[in-house]
Amino acid sequence: MKPPRILSGVQPSGKLHLGNYFGAIRQHIALQEEGECFFFIADLHALTTIQNPKALSENVRAVALDYLALGLDPQRTAFFRQSEIPEVTELAWVLATVTGMGLLERAHSYKDKLARGIAPSVGLFTYPVLMAADILLYRSNLVPVGQDQVQHVEMTRDMAGYFNQTYRKVFPMPEARLDQAPVVPGTDGKKMSKSYGNTIEIFSEGKALQAAVMRIVTDSTPVEAPKDPARDNVFALYALFATPEEREELAARYRAGGLGYGDAKKKLIEKIDAHFAPARDRRRRLEADPSAVDEALGRGAERARSVAADTMREVRAATGLR
Ligand code: ADP
Ligand code: TRP
Repeated sequence: MKPPRILSGVQPSGKLHLGNYFGAIRQHIALQEEGECFFFIADLHALTTIQNPKALSENVRAVALDYLALGLDPQRTAFFRQSEIPEVTELAWVLATVTGMGLLERAHSYKDKLARGIAPSVGLFTYPVLMAADILLYRSNLVPVGQDQVQHVEMTRDMAGYFNQTYRKVFPMPEARLDQAPVVPGTDGKKMSKSYGNTIEIFSEGKALQAAVMRIVTDSTPVEAPKDPARDNVFALYALFATPEEREELAARYRAGGLGYGDAKKKLIEKIDAHFAPARDRRRRLEADPSAVDEALGRGAERARSVAADTMREVRAATGLR
């Protein structure tokens, strides 16, 4: 059997954090063993929120460096910038013509944004159509995403169905695969998120890392008193990095009393440092060699372009476009 085609996109909207890592990136890297992967930087989608050219190109570069440093292998995986394959916007148009307004009006993420008082652009409304085009252009089978994106993948299935019924079967039905996504808590105990300003960045180190970890909110139990590991954010983050034995050992010290939260934070910093040390080294080396990122993205775009061209030939033939 052919290995599944696996595709996902990441928006270049800021510095990646531990929530992104444990919720998404780690699984993306691991999936390279399971199928033919297409991972891209969703810069066209990012235009719905970032309208500053310098910030956009810096973010794209930073996300590319992050993924490559964390283990994305550009020889195996097609890694590219969404905007380098213009066919995606052509397919988005074709899909828009077979899709009812009602489907888009039901999108949770759009409704949430309206509820928060954001004045919607047409692009924000049609965001799911472009996302469907991303998925269908590469005829993806599996789409690993976080919970918040599952509805968009379901809408993609609807759009694939509308197209296949209106014309002929061109698109396979993609399936969402939930990223492992334990909800990683931020420094304030809420879900870690760029928009809450409660993140610990994957590539922060030294003083900046220390400052972020020291900001983690803990309760006011005195050092000597027993503590409940299940209710502590420092412990929750430590547990993501630790082996089961290490986790048990620290839990026992919490329960025994005599361990201060400051000590637990030091142990967490040690874990973060040890876990990401190889990736930090790789990132520094990649950063010193600007052509490395360009080469990786160039190679990925070439692969993506050839698949995109095949799909669009079929779409044009099916619809009667040239
Ligand atoms: P943010 O909330 O910081 O803007 P994104 O929405 O860009 O993050 O999320 C990118 C990916 O990281 C998604 O797959 C999402 O599910 C995952 N992710 C983000 N924050 C967390 C978290 N706190 N815990 C688990 N996964 C997360
Ligand atoms: N909308 C996704 C997010 O915000 C990013 C994305 C764009 C995507 N196109 C995609 C994810 C296609 C999966 C497949 O996280």
